[in-house]
Amino acid sequence: MKLKGKTALITGAAQGIGKAIAEALAKEGADVIVSDINLELASQTAMEIEKLGVKTMALKTNVSDFCDVESGVSQAVQQMGKIDILVNNAGITKDTLLLRMKKEDWDAVISVNLTGVFNCTKIVSALMMKQRSGKIINIASIVGEMGNVGQTNYSASKAGVIGMTKTVARETASRGICVNAVAPGFISTAMTDKLSPEVKEAMLAQVPMKKMGLPEDVAKAVVFLAGSDSDYITGQVINVNGGMLMNT
Ligand SMILES: NC(=O)c1ccc[n+]([C@@H]2O[C@H](COP(=O)([O-])OP(=O)(O)OC[C@H]3O[C@@H](n4cnc5c(N)ncnc54)[C@H](O)[C@@H]3O)[C@@H](O)[C@H]2O)c1
Repeated sequence: MKLKGKTALITGAAQGIGKAIAEALAKEGADVIVSDINLELASQTAMEIEKLGVKTMALKTNVSDFCDVESGVSQAVQQMGKIDILVNNAGITKDTLLLRMKKEDWDAVISVNLTGVFNCTKIVSALMMKQRSGKIINIASIVGEMGNVGQTNYSASKAGVIGMTKTVARETASRGICVNAVAPGFISTAMTDKLSPEVKEAMLAQVPMKKMGLPEDVAKAVVFLAGSDSDYITGQVINVNGGMLMNT
């Protein structure tokens, strides 16, 4: 129960990696705010997690909309009292080769994956500054470090998240806030379920452990970064990728 007394807000937490993170934080005793654009699924997830004996709330927020994040965060603080841990997890893909990529595909991915992290971090870090403590964990991607065919928009957004992690870590370190990123490799969720068998096979061929990761594998790294065991760690990227990338 390393996180008893802490409150965590996780974006995109209705399913997949975000849900696994919310569950893992709750298992360590944290109260959780299950934030997602899909309120119905977020409510279902929050109800499941409540059975672990922690306080939960579901929150409908579109991370790409600054005003929506502002009102969501104030609603969360009203109901839960504070936010000690922010996990920026919400993310989307719109994959295609650069030559075929429409401007709208670029804009959509940047506005959720990059502007969304800016919006949530700006608003929640202001509260953490006043508290003089906080943990911010950004879910980046291996693709932000190594690139990937068909993901110009996505890789740019995730590389941007890594840059933002390091800058915000520097700006907030003296106020007791730690900002780190977790860069997952190839993880089994709805996001990767939609890839063709050929693409999946080609990805797996690049993984020394020869298997996809599970959302829980990512969640374990997030629990470490959310707790006091990582108090002297900031501005870092933890790679959870089965050895797919080793040279950063
Ligand atoms: N699955 C992988 O292999 C993999 C690898 C590296 C990084 N990631 C990253 O992990 C994170 C979670 O991915 P996942 O695989 O669980 O995906 P997922 O599609 O299963 O879940 C994403 C969640 O984000 C929510 N969401 C989408 N747009 C939103 C918005 N505008 N505002 C709020 N919520 C929104 C969705 O409703 C959904 O619940 C993403 O940031 C993704 O880029 C995933």
